[in-house]
Amino acid sequence: MADRLREALEPERIVRLEDDAVVVLDQRQLPDALVDLRCRNAEELAEAIRTLAVRGAPAIGVAAAYGMALAAARGASLDEAYETLAASRPTAINLKWALDEMRPDPSRQRAQQIHDDEVERCRRMGANAAELVPASARILTHCNAGGLATGGYGSAVGAIRAAWERGSVDHVWVDETRPLLQGARLTAFEMEALGIPYAVIVDGAAASRMAAGEVDIVITGADRIAANGDSANKIGTYGLAVLARHHGIPFLIVAPTSTIDPGTPDGPAIPIEERDGAEVTGRFTARNPAFDVTPAALITAIVTEEGIHRAPFRASLPMPVRSR
Ligand code: MRU
Repeated sequence: MADRLREALEPERIVRLEDDAVVVLDQRQLPDALVDLRCRNAEELAEAIRTLAVRGAPAIGVAAAYGMALAAARGASLDEAYETLAASRPTAINLKWALDEMRPDPSRQRAQQIHDDEVERCRRMGANAAELVPASARILTHCNAGGLATGGYGSAVGAIRAAWERGSVDHVWVDETRPLLQGARLTAFEMEALGIPYAVIVDGAAASRMAAGEVDIVITGADRIAANGDSANKIGTYGLAVLARHHGIPFLIVAPTSTIDPGTPDGPAIPIEERDGAEVTGRFTARNPAFDVTPAALITAIVTEEGIHRAPFRASLPMPVRSR
């Protein structure tokens, strides 16, 4: 079974460009079914991004890059494709980064290069982050920052993977991640595929696991890292960072430089996506902010493909690297 699951985590299965469509593995249907979704133009791709058929900060950037290449190949308006895709989700800066990378050369080769580079960045940041994982670690992670979220290998999950390969992982606590269950559906799926021991817990269980001494390190991804190190990630991440500080547990963010936004000075300037309350409850009134911001002061280290960065982050964070 692991082989079949692993196949779903191959970069070209997660997102690829064909002659007439950007094809994504429909993450809304995971883990129950492995179904491709064909997006034949920028509008269809934007809808796939909005509805989380393809999701995770680097993966939506890669998908948008292919979307620009598709628009160029079909002679469609690149300005319209850019605007349509850029408007699909507001928080992850990787989306705008990838669109800006594509503007001067919206070719298929360029989009493929961006995809290949993101996967390579994941491998490098995973190896960097693995240095900070203690022996026999019990790691807690939130949402899905795996291959599905990056177009291959993963950021936080890439770190877990690299640490697992070094023999330093005992167990992974996977937060279920309400309301759309990216942890329970997607990270659990990736742990199964990789053969890493894990257990899904409800989001509210993280505190008691830490109090019981069963968490050695918290590792998450990010959707946008402001110039001062404040980092937006899936709603609930901030609470984990507060809990980690209270219990004296290191809290790591692992993300590629394409997630760093030097143009956003600090956390309050990061736009936070507000999704339909019906995702929380179909019956009663609800609010549904999809992300929160973890203040830099609660982050032990931010790990990118360039290395391990510590406070003061304004000085230590690298600039986003241009794709080759
Ligand atoms: O709403 P989602 O599922 O796109 O949110 C994704 C996350 O919050 C991830 O942790 C983040 O994008 C980092 S992915 C490597």
